[in-house]
Amino acid sequence: MELTLEILDKTHIRSDFDCGHPALDNYIKAQASQDVKRDISVCYVLSDNPKKVVAGFYTLSSHSIPLADLPEELGKKLPKSYKDIPTALLGRLAVSNEYKGNRLGEMLLLDALNRCADLSDSIGTLAVIVDPIDEKAVSFYEAYGFINLPDSERMFITIKTIKASKAT
Ligand SMILES: CC(C)(COP(=O)(O)OP(=O)(O)OC[C@H]1O[C@@H](n2cnc3c(N)ncnc32)[C@H](O)[C@@H]1OP(=O)(O)O)[C@@H](O)C(=O)NCCC(=O)NCCS
Repeated sequence: MELTLEILDKTHIRSDFDCGHPALDNYIKAQASQDVKRDISVCYVLSDNPKKVVAGFYTLSSHSIPLADLPEELGKKLPKSYKDIPTALLGRLAVSNEYKGNRLGEMLLLDALNRCADLSDSIGTLAVIVDPIDEKAVSFYEAYGFINLPDSERMFITIKTIKASKAT
C-alpha cells in the first residue's frame, strides 16, 4: 500500500468504496464533491496509489452547538452571554472494507483532530463533534477520548484534550 492523504478531487476513484454503511458509501460516491464545491465541508481522502482508489475519508465543517447542550461542568466555565459555542464537525469518517484493520481509521481520526487543533489557533473552536453511526462507532470514538454530549447521541472531544494528548 502506498497511501496519500489529500483533499478530494475528481482524480480519486470512489466507485468501489464500501465501508458497510450505504449512507457513507453513497456520500463519498455522490455527494462529497458537491458539498466541497458549495463550501459546506472539506473531504480528506486517503487514497491508494497509483490508481488513487479511495481507501478512507473524513469530512470537516465549521459548526456550533448551543451552550446549554454542553455538560454542566464544561458549560459553567463559559460566559453565559454566548448562546452558541464554536466547534468543528467531523461529519463523516469511514474506511473501505478491504482496507480495514490497518489502523487507517485511526490515522484519519488523528489527522482530523490534529487539523482541528491547529485551526483552533486561528479560529476559536472549543471542541470537535461527531455523530457516531452505530454502537461500534461509539466504542471507536470512546477509545480516542470522545465523550457523550448529554441527552443526545452526539459525542465530543475538547481542543484542550486533543492538544494535551499531542503534548504527551
Ligand atoms: C470505524 C472505522 C473507521 C475504523 O477503521 P479501521 O481502519 O478498520 O480501524 P483501525 O485499524 O484504525 O483500528 C483502530 C482501533 O479501533 C478499533 N476499531 C476498528 N473498527 C472499529 C469499530 N467499527 N468499532 C469499534 N472499534 C473499532 C480497532 O480494534 C483498533 O483498536 P485497538 O487500538 O484496540 O487495536 C471503520 O471500521 C469504518 O469505516 N466503519 C464503518 C463506518 C464508521 O463506523 N465510521 C465511524 C463513525 S461514523
